[in-house]
Amino acid sequence: MRTCYLAAYGHVASAEDTADHLAKAYGDELVAAGLADDTMRFLIVTRELDDGQRIDAGYAWLVKAEAPEPLRARLAVELRRFFLHPDSIGSGAAEPLMAALLDQARQWCADGVFLSVWKESPRAIRFYGRQGFRACATVHFSIGSAHYDDWLMWRTV
Ligand SMILES: CC(C)(COP(=O)(O)OP(=O)(O)OC[C@H]1O[C@@H](n2cnc3c(N)ncnc32)[C@H](O)[C@@H]1OP(=O)(O)O)[C@@H](O)C(=O)NCCC(=O)NCCS
Repeated sequence: MRTCYLAAYGHVASAEDTADHLAKAYGDELVAAGLADDTMRFLIVTRELDDGQRIDAGYAWLVKAEAPEPLRARLAVELRRFFLHPDSIGSGAAEPLMAALLDQARQWCADGVFLSVWKESPRAIRFYGRQGFRACATVHFSIGSAHYDDWLMWRTV
């Protein structure tokens, strides 16, 4: 998880703030607690290389959650993390991972899925757009003392 974060966003904040963010948001204890929590799911997508070897290509972390304003959903799912390993970006693995998480949201009888994505991540925004997510508000995100604008995106399931 830390490798995926560093490859995608390791350049965004200062080294000190990035290390602090990794410890807080990607720490082993937090992930272990998430794995034990029945309101959360971690999904891993694999893919086959040309030599037949199967590798982990990426992961999604889902949380049953109340939808934030301005969304008015009875029950929503927050897509808290959605990352491919850098070697698997552009491999087509993102699509089956998205399909699996939407299935999980349906099993939870959720109305929809929401996520926040940095406004300066055009590739991720394009992918979510193709997957039926729509930007519906600006939300703010901080890493250390630096502040960033994210899109809050939503799609029904
Ligand atoms: C966001 C993310 C999961 C999207 O995955 P992705 O692989 O980049 O996106 P796509 O599946 O749309 O594929 C992109 C390209 O891969 C290629 N591709 C897609 N499916 C393919 C397949 N089955 N076989 C070969 N190539 C394929 C296409 O050329 C596509 O290019 P296009 O945009 O010109 O159509 C990925 O970019 C990522 O992990 N980014 C870093 C982390 C991040 O930003 N996460 C979101 C945080 S909110």
